[in-house]
Amino acid sequence: MKLNLEGKVALVTGGSRGIGVAICRALAAEGMKVGVNYRKSKDAAEALVAEINTDQYPGAAAIAVPGDVGTAVEIAPMFDALEAEYGQVDILVNNAAYCPGGPLDSYTKEEWELTFSVNVTGVFLATQHFVKQLRAKGITGNVVNISSQAAFLGSTSGHLPYDSSKGALNSMTVAIARETASEGIRVNAVAPGMVMTEMVARLWEQKKDFYLSRIPMGRIAEPEEIANIVVFLASDASSFMTGTTLDATGGLMMR
Ligand SMILES: NC(=O)c1ccc[n+]([C@@H]2O[C@H](COP(=O)([O-])OP(=O)(O)OC[C@H]3O[C@@H](n4cnc5c(N)ncnc54)[C@H](OP(=O)(O)O)[C@@H]3O)[C@@H](O)[C@H]2O)c1
Repeated sequence: MKLNLEGKVALVTGGSRGIGVAICRALAAEGMKVGVNYRKSKDAAEALVAEINTDQYPGAAAIAVPGDVGTAVEIAPMFDALEAEYGQVDILVNNAAYCPGGPLDSYTKEEWELTFSVNVTGVFLATQHFVKQLRAKGITGNVVNISSQAAFLGSTSGHLPYDSSKGALNSMTVAIARETASEGIRVNAVAPGMVMTEMVARLWEQKKDFYLSRIPMGRIAEPEEIANIVVFLASDASSFMTGTTLDATGGLMMR
């Protein structure tokens, strides 16, 4: 299958840890140039960049891109860094997310707004900037948003702001896709179930049997299984898909 990703440039927000690392590696394995965005995890981002810039990833290249997705003024400089190095950005992967925990009555307005600033406003601003750049250059591109099953099912462990923000992300995926479809700019999302990363490691340890009993496939996902779907959505293999959110939950969401 022809993916046509060789030489293309991707910005992966939150690329330094968890699913983001697997996404950066998978895109690099297709010969892409990757901007590994980080907020706090500079060392991890630089280690991943060093790995991608070896012969292990023929044709690929990477740079580390600092920036807090939840801070509006830090969005454009991420794209500027990639454009200065590689000329343009072809693929935007909105992967970074904030996930506070607790019951309904525990959240402050500030915590709600912080969650939305990263998971919704950050995605909006990054996508707006990306689409403006594509239009200015007269080129096409792809957005892949990392949503969650929590957008559809909520969380049994209490993550109301996060769950709500992912619902907004799914709506935004459709709304932007509808506006940009005729320009050849595709916007899709993937909704993972539980994936073994730091975001869920503690909960998994505490309630592993409960979670396993809910997942028809009887296991948690590896980050690489989500990354493969991102490669598909970013590539020409999904050329007639836009505005969709793919279910990657091991059957948890099947009806
Ligand atoms: N793990 C799961 O079970 C699961 C399930 C469904 C959906 N997801 C989704 O998958 C995506 C990745 O999750 P994960 O499990 O890999 O999470 P993770 O291991 O907790 O990593 C989160 C990543 O997001 C980055 N990040 C957080 N806030 C940021 C900000 N304001 N600006 C820039 N980067 C920021 C972190 O970078 P720094 O360390 O540099 O701050 C880190 O790289 C998220 O969108 C999450 O909602 C995960």
